[in-house]
Amino acid sequence: MISHFKKWISILLTLTLIAGCAPKPIEVNEDEVLFKKIAQLVQAERNNFAYVDSLEYTLGSVLSGGGSHPTSNNAAGWRNLVSQYQKQSPTPIIYGVDAVHGHNNLKGATIFPHNIGLGATQDEDLLYRIGVATGKEVSATGVHWNFAPTLAVAQDIRWGRTYESYSEDHNIVSSLGLAYIKGLQSTGIAATAKHFLADGATKFNPDSGYKLDQGDAPLDEETLRRIHLYPYYEAIQEGEVLTVMISYSSINGEKLHGSKYWITDVLKGELGFKGLVISDWEAIHQLEGSLYQQIVQSMNAGIDMLMQPFNWKSVVDTMFRAVKNNDISRERIDDAYERVMYVKTQLGLLDNTFEMANESVINSNEHKALAREAVAKSLVLLKNQNQVLPLQKTAKILLIGPGIDNAGLASGGWTFSWQGENSSQNLPQATTLKKAFEAVASAHGGMITTDRSKINEVDVVILALAELPYAEEVGDATDLSLTGSMMHPDNQDAINFAKTSNKPVVTILTAGRPRLIHEELKDWDAFVMAWLYGSEAAGITDVLYGDLDFTGKLPFTWPKTSNTDVISSQNSQRDVNQILFDIGYGLKTR
Ligand code: GLC
Repeated sequence: MISHFKKWISILLTLTLIAGCAPKPIEVNEDEVLFKKIAQLVQAERNNFAYVDSLEYTLGSVLSGGGSHPTSNNAAGWRNLVSQYQKQSPTPIIYGVDAVHGHNNLKGATIFPHNIGLGATQDEDLLYRIGVATGKEVSATGVHWNFAPTLAVAQDIRWGRTYESYSEDHNIVSSLGLAYIKGLQSTGIAATAKHFLADGATKFNPDSGYKLDQGDAPLDEETLRRIHLYPYYEAIQEGEVLTVMISYSSINGEKLHGSKYWITDVLKGELGFKGLVISDWEAIHQLEGSLYQQIVQSMNAGIDMLMQPFNWKSVVDTMFRAVKNNDISRERIDDAYERVMYVKTQLGLLDNTFEMANESVINSNEHKALAREAVAKSLVLLKNQNQVLPLQKTAKILLIGPGIDNAGLASGGWTFSWQGENSSQNLPQATTLKKAFEAVASAHGGMITTDRSKINEVDVVILALAELPYAEEVGDATDLSLTGSMMHPDNQDAINFAKTSNKPVVTILTAGRPRLIHEELKDWDAFVMAWLYGSEAAGITDVLYGDLDFTGKLPFTWPKTSNTDVISSQNSQRDVNQILFDIGYGLKTR
């Protein structure tokens, strides 16, 4: 009996021991899982998110705002910046920048023409190659995500972001934007179709404080779909674009950042967008109500990630509260989380297969040649009387005006800094117009001078006019004359000197949009629109001296009025009396 008893006791003890050692089922703290999921739906700006912060707040993404670069602004400095976050983050972050005309935050990068100039090329293959080159320079710095291209179909060139638009014609925007997206994403970098929807259709409305940027687009749905939605359809269906950024602006008074119809029903539903939708910089703060209400409205509208550069911690905490209160459903959080993970998977971030290009690609000879080709193809010749162009390479030339030797003016906004530069100081890689002319003259026995006292010795005057650099709402204009909004103060003096020079005058305008020239044009023998051409001015002299001919065509209608919401070719009520040159116009020299 006892032995039986002893046996059962020993069995019981053994079982108790085993049970006591058995690993306790991990108590899955549901709230912890939810909190970490929500953190993946928030993006902070690098200056406000220390590496150590990511131990508690495992954010999904970090960005560099315009001009926000590491102390060592080179490939190694950028790679170190990103890798420090990766080391700390349990889930790899996705790092984003605005490389809107080359990797423009990176010192020494190739600076391509801004989109408006590329719109003049109407060359899809060129845009694909620029997408590839940009993607390689971005990936060489360890960055994963480019907030480009802008797919705005800008209708009023007084808008400060007109130069980020390829054209007023949605077909040009769609074909070039798609080519760029395919090129960029072929290098393993995520593209961003932005800013959804109709950011370029806002009206210059005195009631909205004359705001164009982030203003309101009072449009019927047929026009919205035919013109402004069309580029997104192509970008998603053909380009499989990985991300979409929402516009600050409104449609018929409804803020896009709160529009469930346009984001969930149309973008995700009708167009079948499978990637992630990101808000713009603190854009949800423009929605009605408290931060809690702004987060609820924007997330329930279908936004998947909130770009909250500064208050990312309170955004995570508040979103967590909103989910616990069932003001945001868990299904919505899961959908957003899965989309973020989808993009990270596509980029190879989760299985550590993201490949960085070799840093030798940065401003390589190949990329410089590509930018030079793009500049040449972007130029539009609008006047050439007495065949003053092409120039002789032996010609004696006087260069005057603010645009002759300033890489900052040539590049415009989003270049090294958010608002751009008014000098060549931070753009040592650039060839300015003066350098380009000097290279040709020195090789062919020509003479280049900027000394106005030599006016009687020269054959021709190059009058290089320019806008000051600007980005976003800073560039909103009311006066488009050559001495109006955002024009360089030295333009008028140069215009006056050229007028009294008794020499042939070739005017080159460096600007992010057409300006009013119909008064001054009669005093010029030739007029060339160079847009914001970037770091390779040799593309201009290639054409001015006749090695290449002009091929560029206007991507925007050229006005004779500053009231430019009446001239777009997309406007059925356009006033043809206010048009100087129509979209598609451009001369050749032979
Ligand atoms: C800006 C712009 C957007 C840019 C973002 C991040 O406000 O609207 O185009 O991608 O912030 O820099």
